[in-house]
Formats: sequence, structure tokens, C-alpha cells
Amino acid sequence: MIELKDVRYCRLGTSDLESAERFATSILGLEVAERTRSSVYFKSDERDHTLCYFQGNESDQAAAFELGSSDDLHAAATGLERLGHPVHYGSGEECELRKLREFISFSDPSGNRLEFVVRPAQSARRYHGTRDAGVTGFSHIGLNSIDVERDEIFWTNVCNARVSDRIGDAPLLRLGPVHHVIALFPWPTPGIQHINHQVASTDDVQRSHRFLLEHQVPIVFGPGRHVTSMAQFLYFRGPQGLVFEYSVGVTIINDEPAYRERQLPFDPSGFCGWGAKPQIQQFQN
Ligand SMILES: [Fe+2]
Repeated sequence: MIELKDVRYCRLGTSDLESAERFATSILGLEVAERTRSSVYFKSDERDHTLCYFQGNESDQAAAFELGSSDDLHAAATGLERLGHPVHYGSGEECELRKLREFISFSDPSGNRLEFVVRPAQSARRYHGTRDAGVTGFSHIGLNSIDVERDEIFWTNVCNARVSDRIGDAPLLRLGPVHHVIALFPWPTPGIQHINHQVASTDDVQRSHRFLLEHQVPIVFGPGRHVTSMAQFLYFRGPQGLVFEYSVGVTIINDEPAYRERQLPFDPSGFCGWGAKPQIQQFQN
């Protein structure tokens, strides 16, 4: 069993690094941690960075998860190879680019690029957002899944994820007490379905709603409240159509042995208790 500690960062290729940086700072509210000729790294919390846009192909997206030790990483690589997932060991240069000690990359059964990483850098500086969006940190990702039942088995049998709830057959998966860190959404092609940042309060969600409307940022769902995690949410579209989310109030599962997952319908009522209707195709199958 591969013991994942947490989601760590996303890496997104872009043909327009300048626009991506403008969105990440002026709209999303992240802070530039470092800028190189071909990459911009963004902070959202105490970690060195939790998002990196780099000059490259827009379909080149990866999500990274942290493991506890080098031994765990090598055991994970061996296990993944045995299951038929070719594993690439990050070179010294690739590790430097990601600001960590060691990593492997491979594709999940749907073809999503994943990176399992060891000893990623922490920041000595406090996060200070470019705009006051109330961001408290990068928290979870949605991943497209060509076959959600098969991919649930990958995340829960090969890795240590547990199902917190299901919307239709799409599972919301936790790694620790936070209700979900990975959400799988049925979709015919791989890719990152959305990137979530937590904000401090309901006021931050509402203030951002007004702010995004005023700046003509397409709102795709919300404000609303998830009936699964109870989080209040707002989804909106960023560069290359990628969806970002602010949310607050996610359920923390403290009594792990007593928790039982729930089944919600795969229709708008399964996603929002306030009646908001998603404008995101992955929610509408
Ligand atoms: Fe989400």
C-alpha cells in the first residue's frame, strides 16, 4: 500500500506564461514565490510553492502527492511498475525544478500524470497574497477519470485513499481527516478537473464572487454548499479553461473508524444544497 501524506502541488504547462501569472496573482490571489525564464512558482500557504505554471504544452499537467520517505518512494515505484505503470525517476535537474529531494512520475489508470515526491521544500516566509482573497492554502484537486470505479480501486487499494462519499459512482477521497483531497469525475480524457484553495470565511467566498463578476471571470458553479463535505464553494474558470475553486468549511473526519461514506445522486442536488446549478460539463453527465 502506497502511503500518501497529502496533495502537494500542481504543475501546469502554458503557452502564455504572462497571462497565467496575471490570473494566478491578480485574480486567484496567490503570491509569486519565484520566477524563472520558463516557470513561475506560486505560494498559497507555508509550502515553498503549491502551483507552478511553466512554458510548455497546455495538456502537460501533473498533480503531486507527498510520501514519507525515500524507502516508501522506492517501494511505491516497484509496486507501480509491477502493476504495469511505467515509472520515471526524476533527474537531479528535475528535482531542482520542483524544489524537492526525490520524485517519481507515472500515469494513473486514466492517464493523469502524477508525481510522488519526497522532502519537498517548505518556505521560511509567510504566504502573502497579491490580492486579499482570504486564501489559507491549496487543499484538493479534481481529476478526470475515464472509469471512476476502476480508478477508485487504484486510489484505495494501491494507495491509501479512503472513500468519504460518492456522487453517482464518482468518489470523493481522503488521505487524512480532511473530507476529500482527491475527487474523481467521469470524463473521456485525462486532466486536472479543478484545483481547490481554501479560504478563511464565507465572507471571502462572497467577496470573491463579486470580485470575479466585476472582472468578467466566468463563474461556473456557485456560490453554493456541497452536501457531501458541507463546504461552501465557488468555482470559476482560469487560463486554458481550467476550473479553480475557493471553499470554506470542509468537514474534518475526526472519528475515522465510525465514519461511513454516503451515496448522493449524480445531479445538481448531489453537488449543491443551495440549489446552484453547475455550468461545468463534468458535473452534468
Ligand atoms: Fe472541489
